[in-house]
Amino acid sequence: MSPIRDLITNKTSNINPIWIMRQAGRYLPEFREIRKENTDFIKLCLNPELSKEITLQPLKRFELDAAIIFSDILMLPYGLNQKVEFKKNFGPILGDLKLNEILRLEEDDFVKKINPVYKAIKMVSENDITKYKSTIGFVGAPWTLLVYMINRKSPKIKLVDDFFKDKNLIKEILLVIEKFLKIHIKNQINNGAEVIQIFDSWVGLLDNKDLPYYVFEPTSNLVHFTRSLNTPVICFPRGIKDYKKYCDIINPDVISIDYEVDPSLIKKEIQIPVQGGMDPKILLTDKENLKREAKKYLDIFKDHPYIFNLGHGVLPETDPNMMDYLVKMVKDY
Ligand code: CP3
Repeated sequence: MSPIRDLITNKTSNINPIWIMRQAGRYLPEFREIRKENTDFIKLCLNPELSKEITLQPLKRFELDAAIIFSDILMLPYGLNQKVEFKKNFGPILGDLKLNEILRLEEDDFVKKINPVYKAIKMVSENDITKYKSTIGFVGAPWTLLVYMINRKSPKIKLVDDFFKDKNLIKEILLVIEKFLKIHIKNQINNGAEVIQIFDSWVGLLDNKDLPYYVFEPTSNLVHFTRSLNTPVICFPRGIKDYKKYCDIINPDVISIDYEVDPSLIKKEIQIPVQGGMDPKILLTDKENLKREAKKYLDIFKDHPYIFNLGHGVLPETDPNMMDYLVKMVKDY
């Protein structure tokens, strides 16, 4: 059994598996090399051979316990025929949202369009490198996908003014998102994903009163669905203030925490396995500081099932040597 599956199943606290969000990406020169020749990001995600190669790049360098498939949460709107582009130094830009077309979309057409993602997962999970490791599939949570589909770009500071205007549109889109996320999750699992992580990157934009409708209900449905396929779920509701309440309601197998929350409080309040927490900016400092900060998390979660990870994705400016140091340090702890 892979260490992550072991930890989730047996709630063991004597091992600290490690993987890093965005471990396959721009801080690696070998990724930038491939990216330079593949200027269309979506096309790159739809190239199973290259996607597999990029997914495995960090595992060839570091002793990580999981491969997270090189893809993007925005493959879902892409599969729903909403245009998705990535502009350098700006981020994603989405096209018009055509509800009537989306409502007519058939499962087969969606699956055909993003099938290369499943092919890549299959190749990664069958590769020797991942033999005793977990292949992690992922999706964006319904709320975060709704944000991108209506806002049509990252809401760096806030949502567009009329975001909540058309309540009927929101309701319909949330239902479509949930329907196709289930299809997307099922296909990832059928092709070898042994854990699913749900990224809810924009929970922090919501008022507490709106959490039940936009976050708790649709995310719980996905967690139940995934678990009904005998697959554990890691939830990452970045920026949620009350992690305890989130866990009580959603009950994921693992809760991934951001770097703004106090890990000691999490340890005190939450019984389920915990993942992540350390600020990715720590990797931009020096080894001594990195060791101290990583040790802080490892000490706090010493008697608690804990998967080492960061509180958000690794930054593009990160020196791969610092990553190497971190992984070795966690393994030797
Ligand atoms: O290594 C991995 O973690 C696997 C691949 C992965 C990517 N995106 C590749 C990627 C994963 C798990 C994601 C998740 C994702 N994508 C999230 C949730 C996590 C988070 O960061 O909050 C979100 C919100 C997105 C949407 C997205 N994709 C944005 C906002 C951007 C542009 C800015 C950025 O953060 O890079 C992307 C592009 C993207 N997705 C890149 C990569 C490697 C960079 C592409 C490039 O320019 O080379």
